This record gives sequence, C-alpha cells and structure tokens, in this order.
Amino acid sequence: MLIKKIHGWEIPEHMVTPEKVFLNRRQFVAALGVGAATTGIGLGQARAEVDPSASMYPVATNSLFKDAGRPVTPKEINTTYNNFYEFGTSKSISSAAEALKTRPWEIRIDGEVEKSFTIGIDDLLKKVKLEERIYRHRCVEAWSMVVPWSGFPLQQLVELAKPMSSAAFVRFETFVDPEMAPGQKPSLFGLSSGLPWPYVEGVTMAEARNDLSFMVTGAYGAPVPNSMGAPIRLHLPWKYGFKSIKSIVRVSFTKERPVGFWEQLQKNEYGFWANVNPEVAHPRWSQASERVLGTRERIPTQLFNGYGEFVADLYKDLKDEVLYR
Ligand code: MTE
Repeated sequence: MLIKKIHGWEIPEHMVTPEKVFLNRRQFVAALGVGAATTGIGLGQARAEVDPSASMYPVATNSLFKDAGRPVTPKEINTTYNNFYEFGTSKSISSAAEALKTRPWEIRIDGEVEKSFTIGIDDLLKKVKLEERIYRHRCVEAWSMVVPWSGFPLQQLVELAKPMSSAAFVRFETFVDPEMAPGQKPSLFGLSSGLPWPYVEGVTMAEARNDLSFMVTGAYGAPVPNSMGAPIRLHLPWKYGFKSIKSIVRVSFTKERPVGFWEQLQKNEYGFWANVNPEVAHPRWSQASERVLGTRERIPTQLFNGYGEFVADLYKDLKDEVLYR
C-alpha cells in the first residue's frame, strides 16, 4: 500500500490514476528492500496433486448473492491480477504463488475461547456448509472486481470456536514461511524487509457475526486458486480489500483490537474499520470512483460498496471513530 512519509522514505504525491497508485505502492515496498527478495523466485511445485477438496465444488449459490449487479470478472483476470505481498510486490504473483503448499494446512483457533484447538482444512470443510456468493470486491487502490466465491459464513467458524463473552474481536493471521514466500525474506543485505509479517487483520465480534462475512475456500466453482489466497481466506465485501486476509493459519478471539498489517505501517491511511465510502478520500487519492477490471469502465463507488442494508447498523453508534479509512 502507499505509505506517506514514514521512517524517512517518501512516495511522490503526483499519482492521479489508479495505475500510478499501484506503481507507487510497489515503489514503496521496493524501497523497503523487499523487491530484491522477490526476484529469482522458483516457480516451485505447482499444485501437483489434485486438491482433496476439489470434488466438493461447485456448490449451490445463495440466492441473496447471485447477482452482483455487474458481470463476474473473468477468472483469468482475478487469478493473475492480485495483491499477495508474501509472493512479491507486483500484481503478477500468480506463478510465484504456485509455490504455496496448501496441504497439510492447519488452522489454530485460540484466545478467548472455551478451549483452543487446531483443525486441518479438510476436517474444517466437513463441519461447515459450503455455498457460493457472488460478491463485489473493492480495493483501496480504486479498482474492483466481481468474484464468485465459494465458502461458508464466518459465523459458522465463530460457532465452532465457542468464544467466551470476553471476546471482543477476531484476529486473523497468515502463514510465515520465507522459503516458500520470498516476499517474507529479508532483503539481499540481510536487512529486515521492513514489512511486519505475518499479515494480520481483524474485525469486531459483531462484524464477524454479520451475514456478509465470508470464509472463502473456493472460487469459480473450484478450490480457491493459490494467488487468491488458498486454501482459506476472508472476504468482507463492504470493506476495502486489504481487510480480506489470505491463506489464514490462525484465528484468535481477543479482548484487544487487533492491529492490521497495513495499519502497523501507516495507520492514518489504512485504519481498522476501512469501510468503503466514496465521500472519504484516501489522503492521497479520491475514492469516488473505481476502475472495473476487465472492462474500460470507471464507475461511481458506493457507500459500503453497496452492502449498506446488511452492515450500516453496525456503525450507527460509532460516530467518533474513523470508519472509512
Ligand atoms: N492477504 C495477505 N496475506 N497478503 C496480502 O498481501 N493483500 C490484500 C488482501 N489480502 C493481501 C492479503 C489486498 S491489499 C487486497 S486488495 C486483496 O487481498 C486482494 O485479493 P485478490 O488478489 O484476490 O484480488
């Protein structure tokens, strides 16, 4: 993400198009020394074996979310135009992400729960009810996609976890494995990459229990591709995309508000709530409209990405919070 004037590095402020925004975000991360670590990536083991969950897809579409109001973005675009900094700072990480080893894959559930436990992804898939939801996905960088996700409501995971009344937030964490994910390696000279791995994100318990919050395990009628966050990620369609953490290995129920990856880097620009709002500009670019990937269109952005009927109530008593950044 673009970071303004922290720790002595600076990003030029003359970016006026999303394309420039992306470019400058890459420059920022390159300035931290991550770029060097992401070169020379071996393509790794492509998913050699068939994913053991493959036969579970496709799944029935939830009738509430069968139409996102615009066409589904072609799979070739969604799987090859990604933000997944573990595998590099460009949008073209899909080849590098083939090195992501998705089996065995365990998820630790801990914190303010009756009893901590670890569950393998295939055991988890047996305990939940999968459905498809076609959701709009709006990145803070002012581009958007429409994705046919498969997965299960986050509420189902909350129920399995049995949180105690002391749990106020849910904190999600991505794997750390610099051998597999070169974006997590220190720079060439042994200096820290400067990025606060692991990738972390969080929501309130009320947000976690909201009907829209979705744990994604599939897309386009098949297991979710590596580049999109296999084998399990979050999608919160009313928030900017950086909240939708990929490749989750730990879900913790906490008393304290989690501090996300980008919030750790620049809290004025990438805050906790990050609800989509066309009227609240990012400090350095407008959020009024978005570029629809796969088309030549730029369309007006909607409050809560058009999902206000589901989520607006969550925020009605939070007038003093910075809800839209
Ligand atoms: N999760 C992890 N672990 N690492 C990341 O770099 N990028 C975030 C989010 N989740 C990211 C992540 C950002 S900035 C966006 S916009 C979305 O993933 C992109 O999801 P997509 O590549 O499926 O479109």
